Amino acid sequence: MTPIMQINLQPMYTPSIKTKTTSLKILSTLNEKNNQTNQNSLVGKVKQLVLTKENRTKLNTYQDREFYTYPRLVTHVDNGFISILTNLYRDRLRPNIEILDLMSSWVSHLPSDVKYKRVVGHGLNAQELSKNSRLDYFCVKDLNQDHKFEFESCSFDAVLCTVSVQYLQQPEKVFAEVFRVLKPGGIFIVSFSNRMFYEKAINAWREGSAYSRVRLVVQYFQCVEGFTEPEVVQKVPSTIDAKENNNSLFDWIMRLFGLMSKSDPFYAVIAYRNFRIIHDD
Ligand SMILES: C[S@@+](CC[C@H](N)C(=O)[O-])C[C@H]1O[C@@H](n2cnc3c(N)ncnc32)[C@H](O)[C@@H]1O
Repeated sequence: MTPIMQINLQPMYTPSIKTKTTSLKILSTLNEKNNQTNQNSLVGKVKQLVLTKENRTKLNTYQDREFYTYPRLVTHVDNGFISILTNLYRDRLRPNIEILDLMSSWVSHLPSDVKYKRVVGHGLNAQELSKNSRLDYFCVKDLNQDHKFEFESCSFDAVLCTVSVQYLQQPEKVFAEVFRVLKPGGIFIVSFSNRMFYEKAINAWREGSAYSRVRLVVQYFQCVEGFTEPEVVQKVPSTIDAKENNNSLFDWIMRLFGLMSKSDPFYAVIAYRNFRIIHDD
């Protein structure tokens, strides 16, 4: 078994590493040594801003904490979306890793049968977070006021952000902070649908289309030096209906007459800190 790492600007790795259990192959994206030295100094930094001042505005200008004062014990997306997300987590997150669930709430979408070393939650409502049985620990922080976490650098294998990225007014800084707390090779999975608290979503999101929102999240990753090229996973209703749901004649007739609701569209943008480790098992 030979895991392959796709590397992107990682100063401390040499082209080939042998660990105790596995031999790791690295595909370097850099040819020039000088180029590498210059770019390494920018690793983890915001290279350029994605949003204008206008793009960051919200219709509801009260502090976000006020909006989330009372707990909302609801699910924000439907079962079709959640099942795709849980399967994605099962596929991308290995057991026994340390996870930070950013902008979390009272439910976890992690597969319930997989054991992780530590799951830390972050959100805006302590009551919601205290009900989330998956969390070992949680913290409350308004990321539009202060984007810095108290976590040490390189402390998580994975960071997740589910149906919430549209509320970030300084996404560039938050993505850079995620980069900092991720371990090299760590994964950041940002998923979203077309639902939102309209007055709390930033202008660039509200005014955008599905395509432009995906583009936006891709750019949030690309503006921080050192994330791998973002990967987009997309399952729009027709694909979901055909693949995830029962495709019986009954379902087909129901759909024909519009009697069966379509699932929420699913989008995820994924990137890794510096490189991706591919496991064969
Ligand atoms: C639609 S809910 C999604 C909750 C959870 N991720 C889920 O999948 O059910 C949006 C979440 O974003 C968080 N949020 C919104 N604005 C925030 C801010 N300014 N800072 C930190 N978290 C925020 C809230 O705590 C809320 O739980």
